[in-house]
Parts: sequence; C-alpha cells; structure tokens
Amino acid sequence: MRLSRFFGGGKGDEPEPPEPPEPPDDESADNGAPDGDGDDFDGVPEGDSGIDPDLQWRDRAADVIPGGASTGSKRAAALYGENTVFGPTHFVRASGCHLTTPGGRTLVDCTMALGSVAIGYADETITRAVLQAAASGHVSGLSHISEIDVADRLCDVIPCAEQVRFLKTGAEAVAATVRIARAYTGRNTVVASGYFGWLDWANDALGVPPAAHADVTRVPFDDIAALERACQQAGSELAAVVIEPVVERLPSREWLEAARRLCDAQGAVLVFDEIKTGFRLRPGGYQEYGTFEPDLAAFGKAMANGFPISAVVGRAAIMEAATRTWISSTLASEAMSLAAVAGVLELHDKAEVCDTLWRTGEEMMGSVRRAIAASGAAGVTVEGIAPMWFLKWDSPEHESRFLELAVEQGVLFKRGAYNFAAMAHDERTLIDIEHAASTAFVQLVEETQG
Ligand SMILES: Cc1ncc(COP(=O)(O)O)c(C=O)c1O
Repeated sequence: MRLSRFFGGGKGDEPEPPEPPEPPDDESADNGAPDGDGDDFDGVPEGDSGIDPDLQWRDRAADVIPGGASTGSKRAAALYGENTVFGPTHFVRASGCHLTTPGGRTLVDCTMALGSVAIGYADETITRAVLQAAASGHVSGLSHISEIDVADRLCDVIPCAEQVRFLKTGAEAVAATVRIARAYTGRNTVVASGYFGWLDWANDALGVPPAAHADVTRVPFDDIAALERACQQAGSELAAVVIEPVVERLPSREWLEAARRLCDAQGAVLVFDEIKTGFRLRPGGYQEYGTFEPDLAAFGKAMANGFPISAVVGRAAIMEAATRTWISSTLASEAMSLAAVAGVLELHDKAEVCDTLWRTGEEMMGSVRRAIAASGAAGVTVEGIAPMWFLKWDSPEHESRFLELAVEQGVLFKRGAYNFAAMAHDERTLIDIEHAASTAFVQLVEETQG
C-alpha cells in the first residue's frame, strides 16, 4: 500500500517545524483570511499575468529549491500527487487551523504542519512566551535556566523520563536514543520498526553507505514472529529495539510485551519513538496512553507546537551513557523553543488538550465518513486513530482529484499520510470540513461514475 512510503519504509518524508508565525496584533486578530481591502499580502504578486499566483510560487520554488520544498511532505508531488499541476504549495500566514496562500486562498488545514501543531498556529500563549524569550536573549555562552525547568516538567509528565537531553529535530532525537543505547550496552545491533527521519542509521536512501545501517534490522509493525526472529539473530549483539508505537493503528499489547521480554532477556534497551504520539495521544505519548513504559523515548513535533526542538528522555541509569559518547548541537537548548515547550505544558496543565484532540479527531473522521456515504464514493475509507487519521484510497488518480476539489472548497487534506486534529479545529471548522468533503466527493462521483 502506498502509505508504507510515509509510515514504515525508512524513506518517509516528514516535516520540519514551520517558521514562527507573526503574533496576533490584538485580541480581535482574525483567522488570517484576506479582508478585502487589498493590503493583506504585502510583497506578493498581484497575479496580473493571469497566472494563479499560487502556481507562480510553486514554479519559483521548483527553480531554487531542489524538489520544490525542504520538507519532503510539502513538495507539490507529496501534497497532490505525481505530475499534478494544480494546488497551492506555499502560505503567507497561518492562524488557528487556517492558512492563507499568496494567491489569497484561505484553507482549513487538516495536516497541521504534519502533526507538529496540536494547539493551533500562532497560538497567543505560546507566541507570547516565545517572543518574550527572544526579547530577553535566547542564547548565550551559558545554558539558559529554562533548559532545567522544562526538563523537570517533562520528567513530571512523561512516564519513563528521569532525565532529558534536548535536540532540534525528531530525526536527531531518535538517532540520539540509538547512540545512547549503543553506548550503554557496548553493542551495535538495533531492531527497528517505524519511520525515524532522514538520518543515515535509519535510511537506505541513495547516498547512504550501506555500512551506516548494516547493524539495523527492520521488522514490520506489530509482527511478533518477525521481532523474535530478528532479536534471536542479533543474540548477544542486540543493543536496542526501537519502536514507533502507533502506525496507522494502535499496537497489540502482545507485541510490546514481546519487545520488553526480548530486551530484558538480552540486556538491550527498549526505545519508543513518540515524535508523533507525544502530546497528542496523551502528553506522555503512547507510553502514558497504553500504560507501557520503554527505557528511552524521543519526543518532538507537538511538544513545542511547531517550534524546532526535540527531546530524548529516559531512565537515568541509561541516559548517563550520553555523557560517555558525543551528542551535542550548538542551538539544542535555545530558549525560544524551550519557551514554546513551556507554553504547551502550561496549556496541557490548564485543560485536557489530548481529550479534545481525540474528540475532535473523531468528529473529523465522522464528518468525512458521512460525506463519503452520502456521495456514494467508492474506493476510499477513513482509517487511523482519532488524533491522527487518514484517507485510504484505491486509486491515486481519484485521490489527487479529490484533493484538488477539496482545496477548491477550502480544505487541505493530507495525501497518503495522516490528518491531525488540533485544538483549533472548532465546531465551525468541522462544519466547513464536512461541507468541503461532501462537495468534493459528490463531484468526484459525478466525474468518475457519471
Ligand atoms: C515517528 C517519527 N519519528 C521521527 C520523525 C522525524 O522527525 P523530524 O522530521 O522532525 O526530523 C518523524 C517525522 O515525521 C516521525 O513521524
């Protein structure tokens, strides 16, 4: 199935956090939609050539940026399908769950920056915290005290966390868990299941020397026999089992118990990649939701509502190995992103954010299922779990056409990967999503079956 390209193949193309949005000017800041006075989009082409300005930006991107985007999932082909010629690829403003394109379209975003934003774009609490950190000086020759405060808070909310190291991206954080596990055990072999980012240890892409991942054995999601075989083969060389705990669905308890049993029996480290699940299923990720603790875990994405920071957390006795190897990045603990994490933690303290994400995701899935049923569309189903769900298509052509029609109706759905619920998807937006999906499915049915 095509989804494996994104979810399990080690060749995924997943996000980096977006640029910090402009702070709202005042309480009445709108959702980023043009107000019709003509000044909304400074510095943006007027489209007087008769060409859709959104497509002009797409063309410019293709000239100056290989592939058209630095984040794989934001390439035109990833957004809309191979060889498509429609659809906006860039935005100028984002607020709540709405984005505004250079051409003046306002879209409800169901992708939420590939799951890195679970509150909403330009959230006031977080934006204010980040701006304050910037104004106070967010880096120096010494570490900022917020590194300690935020690490302490993460230890409060993440079950397996006794110590924390910060990095910038999800890929770095997972790579660091592997480095720590190898340093701790003095062994090399890793058994892995999931998508872990673009770095050499986790990829067999063109340009990666085979030796870089020669000690990594891939096993399918939730396959106990394959896991047992791989661990047995690794024998006394097994350093870690690294698992992405949710891939399209929740894992079976038996699979996780097998992983724990094998790690314990062989003296290896059990790692969860909670980059997508952290601060989404529960603040503490799958390990809190499923009450199943790994030894180490990687967090990122929703932890900072789109600001660039990730965390390696885990048991102190294992994390200590970080001091005996080398894991470091110049800006790993800059205080703007730490302030964003503090803002997210504050919001989770004040409200049951994750409960809302589950409820909202269920409503999104229900809306789209109703739209499918009412239109009579065939070959498409709504799958996944509520906070991270996806559309599964039999026909890539129908998927592309649906995405185009949905964008025309003002909604951006994710092609071939998850749509993510956010706090910003309110009742009004859910109605907009259902309306757009209904109209798009009806038209698709007319075109393909009429
Ligand atoms: C489960 C998982 N791990 C790791 C990564 C890599 O994170 P990043 O793209 O921030 O490097 C991703 C990205 O989508 C992910 O979903």
